Amino acid sequence: MKTMEVVLARPIVDVPVTSDFQVRERDVPDRLDDGQLLVRVLYLSLDPYIGSVLRGRHMGARAPAPGEPLPGECVAEVLRSSAPDFRPGDLVTGEVGWVEIGVLDAGKARLVDRAAGVAAHLGVLGMPGLTAWAGVTQLARVGAGDVFAVDAAAGAVGGTAGQIARLLGARVIGIAGGPAKCALVRDVYGFDDCVDYRAPDWADRFAQATGDGPTAYLENVGTAVLDQVLARVRVGARIVLCGMVDHYHGGPPAVLPVVPLITRRLHVHGLVVYDFLARRQEWLDIAIPWMREGRLRPVEDVADGLANAPAHFERLMRGHNQGKALVRVDAGA
Ligand SMILES: NC(=O)c1ccc[n+]([C@@H]2O[C@H](COP(=O)([O-])OP(=O)(O)OC[C@H]3O[C@@H](n4cnc5c(N)ncnc54)[C@H](OP(=O)(O)O)[C@@H]3O)[C@@H](O)[C@H]2O)c1
Repeated sequence: MKTMEVVLARPIVDVPVTSDFQVRERDVPDRLDDGQLLVRVLYLSLDPYIGSVLRGRHMGARAPAPGEPLPGECVAEVLRSSAPDFRPGDLVTGEVGWVEIGVLDAGKARLVDRAAGVAAHLGVLGMPGLTAWAGVTQLARVGAGDVFAVDAAAGAVGGTAGQIARLLGARVIGIAGGPAKCALVRDVYGFDDCVDYRAPDWADRFAQATGDGPTAYLENVGTAVLDQVLARVRVGARIVLCGMVDHYHGGPPAVLPVVPLITRRLHVHGLVVYDFLARRQEWLDIAIPWMREGRLRPVEDVADGLANAPAHFERLMRGHNQGKALVRVDAGA
């Protein structure tokens, strides 16, 4: 039996583009080793960190060579199982990669609840949602009376973080690139306001929108926006450094300015979601009821078919996505 996969056509030395990838056929293994699952991928998650992995910039991970499997979290259906805890038909998440049918070690697979949705397990209920929960509730400790700001606010982490902060009673201001993203942030995610950082007067608009200044800030991009925000935060504000998407492909990451850190007595936290994986259930116990009640809204930016994964990834790398970037690999999903 054959399946399709996507691999690199050449080493990545710049921002990845569609032509850096190649779609090809490969064999599906006839037999499974003990503890393995054969799975059919329903959705593949495309995440900014994959761009840094492809360039060998991600926390010591080696860049995949052309022709090697590409990393990617998936939600998938079990077709065959040689592990006692999994049966055909089960819905699982795990790193299956950029394939239609693949093999997953049962020890790295996680059974998920189909009633809570399918694609949501890669977004609001997946790694980006857990990141947002950890940043807002465990590090920034946002609550009623806070003014919370977040950039890349139309995206998976930023959009979820702002919604959580608002549900906890904060006033929430997003920062996003362009009027369409800001409309999404205000009208669908329900933030109190959103400022388009591409507008020439954005810093003044941000000052107006945040009044006396943010008391908490989640940084997702790592560019000059950070300087402008730090110039306006209140004394004692909590700053969570979460992402550096601009640095994954561009120049050096932003450098923290010492003056506001000292004079405003800021509390700066670095966030790595891996530290919170063991606490995923805490987030799911909150998030699933919020989703059912319509209080937490997932927004997905979906491409159809594995063959369109490279173009959709280029779209994410260019910052054109609105919401969680996903590929619906199985048309019936
Ligand atoms: N620390 C952790 O453990 C952890 C875990 C998950 C994610 N993250 C990080 O959190 C950030 C957001 O992740 P996400 O999955 O929610 O992504 P996302 O926000 O859905 O997509 C990335 C967004 O970043 C903005 N952006 C600004 N400069 C960019 C550039 N040079 N290239 C591409 N995008 C650019 C764009 O929005 P605008 O147009 O609005 O600027 C883009 O839509 C990323 O930096 C990611 O690596 C960190």
